Amino acid sequence: MKKFYITTAIDYVNAKPHIGHAYEKIAADILSRYHKIQNENVYFLTGVDEHGVKVEKAALAANLSPQEFCDNLAKSFQEAWNKLDIKYDKFIRTTSLEHKASVQNIFLKLKAAGALYKSKYNGLYCEGCEDFVRERDLTDAKLCPNHLQEPKTIAEENYFFALSKYKAKIKTWLENNDSVLYPLSRKNEVINQLNDPELADFSITRQRSSLNWGIAVPGEPEQIIYVWIDALSNYITAIGYDQNEENLHKWWPADIQLIGKDITKFHSIYWIAMLIALNLDLPKQIYAHGFLTIEGQKISKSLGNIIDPVTLVDEFSATAVRFYLFSQINFDQDGDFSRLSFINCINAYLANNLGNLLNRTITMADRYANSEIPQVSPIDITLKTIVEENTVKYQNAMLNLQFNEAINATFRIVDATNKYLNESKPWTLFKENKFNETKTVLYNCLMMLNEIAILMYPFTPKLSYDIFIQLGYSDSQIVKITNGQTHKLISGTIINNNGPIFQRIEMAKETV
Ligand code: ME8
Ligand code: MG
Repeated sequence: MKKFYITTAIDYVNAKPHIGHAYEKIAADILSRYHKIQNENVYFLTGVDEHGVKVEKAALAANLSPQEFCDNLAKSFQEAWNKLDIKYDKFIRTTSLEHKASVQNIFLKLKAAGALYKSKYNGLYCEGCEDFVRERDLTDAKLCPNHLQEPKTIAEENYFFALSKYKAKIKTWLENNDSVLYPLSRKNEVINQLNDPELADFSITRQRSSLNWGIAVPGEPEQIIYVWIDALSNYITAIGYDQNEENLHKWWPADIQLIGKDITKFHSIYWIAMLIALNLDLPKQIYAHGFLTIEGQKISKSLGNIIDPVTLVDEFSATAVRFYLFSQINFDQDGDFSRLSFINCINAYLANNLGNLLNRTITMADRYANSEIPQVSPIDITLKTIVEENTVKYQNAMLNLQFNEAINATFRIVDATNKYLNESKPWTLFKENKFNETKTVLYNCLMMLNEIAILMYPFTPKLSYDIFIQLGYSDSQIVKITNGQTHKLISGTIINNNGPIFQRIEMAKETV
């Protein structure tokens, strides 16, 4: 069995998750489910990034100890992912004892490998970015351009990471391997950064007086490990680095590491340097997705436009949210969440095209085929070609994370089946006593719905489940199907007419 290890960025727990965080985790879930249904052995890791100044300050403002604050937020992330049907294999918390112990070991290994040295750091630090910033990158008002807040001046004795030792190797890795960093525009950006002589060694510890909420350097309690070293390590501590070598090598290197475009430097430079120093294999692919905006605006606390994914699920369902985000946006580009286009999209695709196809087919199978899957019949040649062609397109799209293309391919099958049903008119055939012909048409439509449910499963698992149930599968058969066992309609199986699987969203309340 082929293994597939997928990771996501781990979110800062300074606030509850927003739709941008959800977007990335849903994408990982789609990939995880897709590879599972291909009969691969999948491990899907996600979690939260709990240390650092930003989280510590948020805890203080909430009048809680940092640990209590993190405990509460870690729970709200897990609850949100649960609501969104995101089914991870492990949720790592960077405040867990295992992670903390492994990070300390990683620090010692890096030191032993000659990757670290002590020196004086003198410069600026933005707590919003949890990153060091350069004077000349600041705005005219001397603020961090990303967070519009004033960076802190820091002058302290710290450990440094000798990035200069690894720059050439990282560049070779990027240049010699086509698919290690996607999209290609990001890869070019990183190669430019590597060519910049100013990309220098960076400080990887802070004095406890400036960062208290973090993991201490072993034997030096006054030095706290930089939050990015702590966070990046999660991808290997979660699978047993230094604790369970066998499990580590079962999964590592990651097959895909999903991140947002804003943290590309940390992953394709710092993380790669760490791995080289630790003498571990490099990930097969880092994929930097685009950013979501809301009604055309950047998601931000100060604009007050943060969409809580849980509220959205409560209002519209996980199916609707997942489907909209991945049918309407190119994953490698920025995309917008707009309420009006959301409602239009759901009504058009799920309620009308797919929902009606299922409902009509099942209702007619009830009436004209004794509520059962008819005898195996010849498949309509046009439909057969459309399914084959679009399944190939779907597979390629999924492997390249072109999720909207995969959904488009699926809906070409939906549309073709609707057309076939309209043109074959089983209701007329039945009236004309052409019972075999009627059943052949219904068999074809049921077959197509079976294929469509499989293709939709990674995107909308609940919706596919409902289709499978209407097609007469039992729960245990559905578990098998979604783990890559074959799926074949069995003639004579009793179908379940459970009514429409997807209700139209009424627009009236939207226009008031
Ligand atoms: O960066 N659209 O955490 P984070 C899409 N803890 N993705 C978005 C987004 C948006 N509007 N806003 C944020 C961190 N993201 C670190 C990561 S990994 C070892 C440590 C994405 O909470 C963002 O790009 O700021 C990142 O991939 C993830 O959400 C967490 O962001
Ligand atoms: Mg961020």
